[in-house]
Formats: sequence, structure tokens, C-alpha cells
Amino acid sequence: MARTRSVVLLVLFTLFLSFSCNGVFGNRGIHINKLAKKTIQVIPPSQPKGSIDQKSSPQFNPSNFWLNGKGCPDGLVPIRRTTKDDLKRAKLATEIHASKYNPLTTDKHGTHYAIVGTTDTNTKYHGGYAIISVYNPTVVGTQYSSGRIKVQNGPDSIEVGWTVNPTLYKDNRTRLYTFTKTANSACFNTLCNSIKPVRPDMPLDMVLEPVSTINDKYDYNFMLFWDSANGNWRLKVDNDARELGFWPKNIFTALGDGANYVEWGGEVYSPPDFPSPPMGSGSSILETTRYDAYFRLIKTINETDYAVNAVGTKAFSDVNQYQVKDEGDTGEAYFQHLVLFGGPGGYTGP
Ligand SMILES: *[C@@H]1O[C@H](CO)[C@@H](O)[C@H](O)[C@H]1NC(C)=O
Ligand SMILES: *[C@@H]1O[C@H](CO)[C@@H](O)[C@H](O)[C@H]1NC(C)=O
Repeated sequence: MARTRSVVLLVLFTLFLSFSCNGVFGNRGIHINKLAKKTIQVIPPSQPKGSIDQKSSPQFNPSNFWLNGKGCPDGLVPIRRTTKDDLKRAKLATEIHASKYNPLTTDKHGTHYAIVGTTDTNTKYHGGYAIISVYNPTVVGTQYSSGRIKVQNGPDSIEVGWTVNPTLYKDNRTRLYTFTKTANSACFNTLCNSIKPVRPDMPLDMVLEPVSTINDKYDYNFMLFWDSANGNWRLKVDNDARELGFWPKNIFTALGDGANYVEWGGEVYSPPDFPSPPMGSGSSILETTRYDAYFRLIKTINETDYAVNAVGTKAFSDVNQYQVKDEGDTGEAYFQHLVLFGGPGGYTGP
């Protein structure tokens, strides 16, 4: 018992040390006392219609994350403290992550995909949704391994999900991440003009623990929702209706008018010629969620803001060390439209 408690305390302490509370709109370096009086810009929760009645497994509980049980004071959001070294690593991680990318094709050396994407580019999507199982694949060096949802239009894309990325995060834990790409910039989380976090209790790079094992599954729900009222994109990660952050319309050229492509799946990177890392659970697809990493309740949000089962999707993986299986609508309420993805890796080049 005593041992368990000290572990918990250590985790809390580490978390407390690695974040500072910042003004909602990123005014780093201003005194907290001043900012604490600012009111948070509350955006009315607008929820897509159509039921998303399933809950993901872990209920986010701020009292497990924060010494004070609730996170930053009102009006402030937790931002990871960044040192010069952090910025250098983030720059490298961005360079690795941001190179040319065309959906459903492979054209990035060292990057591998096992994905399912929409195929009808004449449809306008107001967002994408899924509940993603969370794992902790082993990576080394500059490798990363992720499970994520992506929305895209023209040069702009937003990616959200989980990743193990020691170049970015300096550890091997499974963490939440966002990646924003526009015609002029690309970055993780808030490192460029991108997502504006709004929740005082949930850091954008939060550790997602526990992770799934063969016997216990942990999954998180991720929603990217385009707000047609103002052109902003909103992110929700959790079972409750509160939003984690939003992307202002004006940072985008095309995505500010909605998306024409939505994608779900795994992505890994390895320096070419070095055996590529595991994806998802690390298992080749066995067509059972006991062993395979999954996306369940794959949905798009349609032009009248209804969350609907994703249709007309196509599966793609670039090498057979990674696999994806689009199971389509399973007819089971718990899974609905299900996609299995993953693989042991070990690709060393053609
Ligand atoms: C990640 O794990 C690998 C293999 O266990 C280890 O070599 C490496 O040092 C770890 N990296 C970090 C940043 O902890
Ligand atoms: C969106 O989905 C709802 C519910 O299925 C449907 O009634 C509506 O017509 C759809 N809107 C569009 C633009 O397809």
C-alpha cells in the first residue's frame, strides 16, 4: 500500500513540475496573478447531432492528475514548460513528421501507414470521430509510433491522437498529441500558430495511462469538429462535452471551410535502413480486438452536423509489416464501424 501511494505522489509531482499555467491565448511570461483575473473565453459547447452514445474506457479525472485536484486556476491552461533543448527536439520532431504527405499513398521515406480514409473528395466533412485503443509500442532513437485521426483540405491538415515520440517528448510514454499543418507552418501542439488550448485541467500532451494489454483495453475518444458558425475547428478528447482546444479559422487557407478528407489509422517513422518500430498493439492483424489495436465508432460529421457512420472508406498500408482491416459496420453497438490496425514492424527498406 505504502509503495503504491509513493508512486502516485511521484507521478503527481512530476506532472506538477513539468507544466506551467498560461493565459488561454498563450501569453507566456506574464505574471499568473494578472492572468488569473482574465476570464476564460467560454465557447458554447456545440455538439454534433446524432447519438455518439458509447463511452471510451478511462474517464478523465483531474484529481488523479493534479496536486490541487483540478488543474490551473480559471482562465489559465496548462502548457508544458519548454527549455531550449525541448524546442530543438520539437523542431527535429516536426521536420521528421511534416514532410510531403498525400493521403492513401506513400511518399515519405521512413514513414509507414496503415490507414483508412474517405474517398469522396466532393463531400464536405464537418469533422471526424472515433474511439481509439491506446498502446505503448517500443520505439528507439528518432522513431515514433502513433494512432490518430486526421482531417485535411488542400495544404491544411490537423492530426490528433496518441503517440510514443521520444524526440518530441523526451520519454517513451504514450501521450496525447496534435499536429497542425498549414501552407506556412507545421508543428506539434502549441509550438506554432495552431491549437489554442482552453481546458484548465487537461494538458495537450497529457500522458495516456494505463495502456491496453491483451486482457485489459483502454481507449479514448477523439473528436475533431468544424464549427460552421465561425469556421474554427474544435477538439474534444474525453467522454464529457468539454472541449480541449480549438484552431482559429484564420490560420488555414482551405480547412477553415471544412474538410474534404478524413482518415483514421496508425503511423510510424524510423530512420530508413533501421528496423521500423511496432504499430498499435505490435500484432499483425488477427481480426480480434483482443490482439489488434482498433478504432471503433468511426464516424464523420456531415454537412448538417450529424455524426454518422463513416461510409465509402478505403484501407491502405504501404508495407506488409503494417496492416489495416476495415471491418465496416459490424452491427454491434459497441463497435459500429470498426477498423483494426497495427503490425510488428521490422521493415528495413526495399
Ligand atoms: C526509450 O526506450 C528505449 C528502449 O527501452 C531506451 O533505449 C531509450 O533510452 C528510451 N528513451 C527515453 C527518452 O527514455
Ligand atoms: C446528415 O445525417 C443526417 C442523419 O442521418 C441526415 O438526416 C442528413 O440528411 C444528413 N445531411 C447531409 C447533408 O447529408
